[in-house]
Amino acid sequence: MRRISVRGMRPEHGEAGVTDDIRDFWDIDAATYDRSPSHYPQRPQEQAAWAATLRRLLPEPPAAVLDMGAGTGFLSLLLAAQGYQVTAADFAPGMLARLKAKAADRGLAVEAVQTDAVHPPAGPFDAVVERHLAWTLPDPASALAAWHTVAPAGRLVLIEGSWSGRGAPTVDRLRLRARAVADLIRRPAPDHHGHYTAQMNAALPYRGGLTPDEAVALVEASPWGRARIERLRDVEWAVTEGLGPLDSLIGTHARWAVIAGR
Ligand SMILES: C[S@@+](CC[C@H](N)C(=O)[O-])C[C@H]1O[C@@H](n2cnc3c(N)ncnc32)[C@H](O)[C@@H]1O
Repeated sequence: MRRISVRGMRPEHGEAGVTDDIRDFWDIDAATYDRSPSHYPQRPQEQAAWAATLRRLLPEPPAAVLDMGAGTGFLSLLLAAQGYQVTAADFAPGMLARLKAKAADRGLAVEAVQTDAVHPPAGPFDAVVERHLAWTLPDPASALAAWHTVAPAGRLVLIEGSWSGRGAPTVDRLRLRARAVADLIRRPAPDHHGHYTAQMNAALPYRGGLTPDEAVALVEASPWGRARIERLRDVEWAVTEGLGPLDSLIGTHARWAVIAGR
């Protein structure tokens, strides 16, 4: 049996300084984050697929849901539109400013809280959800434990994706290579304003993304306990339907969610 270890923080890299660097990165990124369709899908089919996925994975509205690392609010706004009571937490004020502006535009009630992932807002919440946060935490195990204290009788939904290719099946790695070759010719706009430094990456046990094995092991080693995993095929289908001819031949990476708790 292959053993999957749960990786912890590496304190020699100076947690506080790196956390500031990561927060500054996302604060700057807030200005352009939504331009990438993978960050903030705009197509109705994709939005509807995400909305249905959230509804399926979470308790029924009006459950109180904490969206950790909420960013510009993709999940929070879909949840609020479905009648959930949403608290959106993020440590980057620029991200929260975008989220609040969009919520106000749409007349949606979302409580925004600026805080680090290891200090979640007081609950109790019926569920904690996150999308694409765990990979960029220096100490994801402590964050998961902290989230459990504010939703002790609730559910955890951790949404990640195999976008970096690390530990991904051969077909996904071939897709990445094919896309990299295609991008040499078409030179798309970058997804982010810059890159993490070597020091930032060195502080992140799951830099570049968790594998599904790692995500399940991480959750099961936390107070959330026994976990299940689901592939988000409706989302992948909706993404694929919006791709141009070359990209639809190449295909898209796997999206999945790890679910634990009640
Ligand atoms: C890749 S973005 C994902 C945003 C959003 N969840 C989404 O699905 O579009 C990562 C987000 O996590 C936030 N973040 C990263 N580390 C954090 C931490 N330690 N505490 C709170 N938020 C954090 C960043 O500010 C950023 O908004």
